[in-house]
Amino acid sequence: MASGDSFYVTTPIFYVNDVPHIGHAYTEVAADVLARWHRQAGDDTWLLTGTDEHGQKILRTATANNVTPKQWADQLVETAWKPLLETVDIANDDFIRTTDARHEEGVAAFIQQLQDDGHIYEGEYEGYYCVGCEEYKSRDELIETETGDYAGELVCAIHSRPVEILKEKNYFFRMSDFGQQLLDLYESQPDFVQPESVRNEIIQFVKQGLEDLSISRSTFDWGVQVPWDPTHVIYVWFDALLNYVTAVGYGDPAHDGPTSDGEFRRRWPATHIVGKDIARFHAVIWPAMLMAAGLPVPHRVFGHGWLLVGGEKMSKSKLTGIAPQQITEVFGSDAFRYYFLRAIAFGQDGSFSWEDLSARYQAELANGFGNLASRVVAMVTRYFDGVVPAACEYLDADLAIQRTVAVAAATADAAIDRLAIHESIAAVWTIVDELNGYITEQEPWVLAKERATRDRLSTVLYTASEGLRALAVLLSPVLPKATTTLWDALGAPAGLGALTAQPIRAAGDWGQLPAGSTVTPLTGLFPRIEETVGAVSGAA
Ligand code: ME8
Ligand code: MG
Repeated sequence: MASGDSFYVTTPIFYVNDVPHIGHAYTEVAADVLARWHRQAGDDTWLLTGTDEHGQKILRTATANNVTPKQWADQLVETAWKPLLETVDIANDDFIRTTDARHEEGVAAFIQQLQDDGHIYEGEYEGYYCVGCEEYKSRDELIETETGDYAGELVCAIHSRPVEILKEKNYFFRMSDFGQQLLDLYESQPDFVQPESVRNEIIQFVKQGLEDLSISRSTFDWGVQVPWDPTHVIYVWFDALLNYVTAVGYGDPAHDGPTSDGEFRRRWPATHIVGKDIARFHAVIWPAMLMAAGLPVPHRVFGHGWLLVGGEKMSKSKLTGIAPQQITEVFGSDAFRYYFLRAIAFGQDGSFSWEDLSARYQAELANGFGNLASRVVAMVTRYFDGVVPAACEYLDADLAIQRTVAVAAATADAAIDRLAIHESIAAVWTIVDELNGYITEQEPWVLAKERATRDRLSTVLYTASEGLRALAVLLSPVLPKATTTLWDALGAPAGLGALTAQPIRAAGDWGQLPAGSTVTPLTGLFPRIEETVGAVSGAA
C-alpha cells in the first residue's frame, strides 16, 4: 500500500463475563503488530479494541455475583481488560465499550434506519439459544448427550451446556435478502475472508441459504433498547458488531455526514482480526447489515486459529485458560508477542507449551538476537572506544549482508500486507541468522590484532552495527521494548531520532546509521531465566 493510506484494524470486543486468557492476548498482539507496522510506515493508522458488555451472559454473571451488570462490567474493564493491554504492550488508539453513549446512540440510529428502509419485520422466534455463544442454534449444531450431568438434553457443541428453548415475539432482520450479494462479494474480493479454510467454510454456509436473523429480545432488558419498541432490547451480536463503526463516529453529526470532520469516512472500512470461532458473524451477518444500510463492507476479515491446550481450544468455560501474566512475568511482554506470532502460522491452530516457549526464547531471542546485539556493541566499545567506525571498502561478504537486509525488509512488508505475520518475522530473522554467520566468518577479534587489518575491522563492525539498525526498525512492531533498548545502545537517537519515527518501508536502505554514533553497553536484552522456567514448566 502507498504511504499515508488509511489502515484501520480491529480486534473483537471481548465479553466481560470473565478475565482474559492468552487467546484474547494473542488476537490483541496480532492486531497491534499490524498497527505498529503500518503506523511506522506512515499510514493513517487506527487500532481499535474494547469490550462487549450487553446480553444474557453478562447479565447472568453479574446477577450471580450480586451486582448490576454495569457494575460488573465496570469492574472487569478496569481490573482485567484494560490491564491486559499493558501486560502485552498494546498501543491501541481507542477502547470502546458497548455501554458507551457514543455506541448506544449509533446502534439506535443504525437499527432505526434499517427499520425505516423496510429491512426489519416483527415475527415469532421459536428455537434454541446458547447463552455461552449468545447465538441462535439450529438442531444440527447441537448434540444429544447420553451421559453426565445433562444426559438426555440437547447441549451446545461448543460449550457442552444445555441450550434454551426460546419462543418469543422478536424483530427480524431480512438477512436472507443478502445471500447472493454476499456470494458475489466473496467471489469478487477473494481476500475478503481469510484464510482460505475459513473462506471456504463461509461460502459453503451462505450457499446453503440464509435465514432471517432474530435481532431483539424481550425477556430481559440488559441491552440497547429498540427505538420504536422499548419492550425489546437489541440482540447482543447485532449491537456488538456495530462497535466497529460507532467507534469511528458513525451516526454522530460531529464525525459523520455533510458538516462533520469526516472521521468516519476517513477510517472506515476496517481490517477485522478475529478468531475463527466468530468469523461467521463478521463475514456473513456484519456485511449483510452494512449492505442493508448502504455502507461499505469491511476491507478484510481474518479468522485466526485457536490456541490449543491438551489438543482442545483453550477456554475459560472449560477451565483451560492461562493468564497472559503467567507468561509475561517470566519472559516479558516482548517474548510473549514474539513467541505466539512466530511459532504459529497466522491462520492455523497452535498448541501452547511452556517447553516450546522457553526453548525458542533461549535459542532465538537470547542466543540469536540478544547475543548478536550485545557482542557487536561490545566490540565497537572495545576496538573503537564506543564510536561506530565508518566503513571502508565493501567486499562480497559485506554486500551479501546489504542484500539480505534489503530483501528481508521488502519481503517482510509484503507479508504484512497479506496479514502473514509469521512470514514477515521469519523474513526479518534472516538478518539475525546471516549477521551471526557473518561475524563468525569475519572474526573481528582476529582483525583487531593487527594494524594492517584495521580498515577491514571498521567495515565489518560498521556492517554489523548497521545491520542492527535495520533489525531494530524492522522488529520494533513485534519487540517494542527490546528494540528501543537496542536503538539507544547503538547511539542511534542522536543521528536518526526516535525508533518509532523511522520509516519502516525504507528500513532496507543501506547506510543510515551515521558513523560516529556513540554506543553504550548492552546487557541482557533477553536475560537467562533457566531456573524460573524449570519451575514454571514443572507446574504446567
Ligand atoms: O466472541 N485461541 O467475545 P469472546 C485463540 N464478544 N483465540 C482465542 C481463543 C483461543 N483459544 N479463545 C478466545 C466474543 N480467543 C464476542 C465478540 S466482536 C463484535 C464480539 C479470542 O470474549 C479470539 O479472538 O468470546 C476469539 O474470536 C475471541 O477471543 C472471542 O472472545
Ligand atoms: Mg467466546
